[in-house]
Amino acid sequence: MKMWSGRFRQPLDPEFEAWQRSFPYDRRLLPFELVASRAHASALEHAGILSSEELSEILNGLAEIGRRAESSPEFLNDPEAEDVHHFVEKQLAALIGDTGYKLHTGRSRNEQIATDLRLFVRHSIDTLQTQIADWLDALLTRAESAGAAAMPAYTHLQPAEPVLVAHWLLAYVEMFLRDSSRLADCRKRANLCPLGSGAIAGATLTLNRAAMAAELGFDAPTANSIDATADRDFALEFVGALAQLALHLTRWAEEMILFATPAYGFVELPESYSTGSSAMPQKKNPDLLELVRAKSARILGCATTLQTLVKGLPLAYNKDLQESQQPLFDAVDTVIAMLPLVTGFMQAVEFNEKKMNHAAQSGFMNAWAAATYLVDRGVPSRLAHEAVGKAVQLALERGCDLEKLPLADLQEIHPSFDAAFHASLGLTEVLALHDVPGGTAPRYVKRALQNARERTAALRPCDPVALGS
Ligand code: ARG
Repeated sequence: MKMWSGRFRQPLDPEFEAWQRSFPYDRRLLPFELVASRAHASALEHAGILSSEELSEILNGLAEIGRRAESSPEFLNDPEAEDVHHFVEKQLAALIGDTGYKLHTGRSRNEQIATDLRLFVRHSIDTLQTQIADWLDALLTRAESAGAAAMPAYTHLQPAEPVLVAHWLLAYVEMFLRDSSRLADCRKRANLCPLGSGAIAGATLTLNRAAMAAELGFDAPTANSIDATADRDFALEFVGALAQLALHLTRWAEEMILFATPAYGFVELPESYSTGSSAMPQKKNPDLLELVRAKSARILGCATTLQTLVKGLPLAYNKDLQESQQPLFDAVDTVIAMLPLVTGFMQAVEFNEKKMNHAAQSGFMNAWAAATYLVDRGVPSRLAHEAVGKAVQLALERGCDLEKLPLADLQEIHPSFDAAFHASLGLTEVLALHDVPGGTAPRYVKRALQNARERTAALRPCDPVALGS
């Protein structure tokens, strides 16, 4: 039986009927639909619509639907079900008879889908937070094991200054900690319960909205029934946060691809996460990294789809909103499949610390330290910059590093160069010079590592509501 056929005299065009169904994809919301239906059924009993016997029949029926769906996926092959809400109603009536049709009393699918999607987003965020914590742990473990190893840091993709490898990895740690906090923030706004909003104007029964919200682990009921049934901000925010996370992954992937090229040679691609070429026998290609870079396109597409969907959409529920489901699912699935892979990659990849260290000591990356040396001797910064620039020019002409220039030549450029100059330009000295919180001086990197470990450890939440039967 359809949920709405009473006022219709003609059957639906079969092609249209099949085309407008969401069950082929919203069936994955079944666990959320079942817990939300339990909460609604309890509220109906409280309101005197269901007897306690009817309530337990309904609850048992809902539990049975959950069990059947889990034990045999074919159970969900229902070509008649319009959507997950219709499916549950049909199955419930098949299991317990007409009492099953009482469950829909005083509610609308408009509030149900809004509730299911909020539960889905919340559950996904909790899964993602654990995955992000694993990914951060992998980055932090690499950072810790890099110890005192250094590498060039680049601006404009030109060698700029040496940094600790750990400092570079901690830059990514910060990005993903921000992603995690964006998701936590999104979870707060998503965690409100639309149940009791009805179709648009609020339920026609005095349902205890606070009790339904509490049962489902929501912080409170939503405040306005029109907004609650029209709102998909939580999905937009969530997929927006996923898009940002995916963008961060592309920056990491791109650097790893570059660093794995022979020109850099900082990274040895793990064979377990690389592929070969069917034509060129010598090739080992960074496919995982390239796909990570590419998947962001898809996630950005999902974010754009969702934004475009609500653009100019009048209040409140419109069927357009059904189209919010697939981009939401696609974005989540794409990120959830990707995070364990990048974590595994990061655990397996090898850093060529010798090459990194070597590269950190060439290319005049100690030039700013050289200028600071003059500044320490009272030379105005702009003049120190000019003097070191001239010294670099001289070293370039002679094909040597800055610290190889004889003192006499340096003193001709500026009299403040003295005998301590050469020793101040070693890698250890240059690193230690950046002695500020957030800088690459080893003592601050050590503190930053500890601090990031603590913030990562705090990320592992647990979903307060048991899903399924
Ligand atoms: N399948 C629908 C969706 O995802 C459920 C809500 C249907 N509401 C309605 N008034 N037709 O949006």
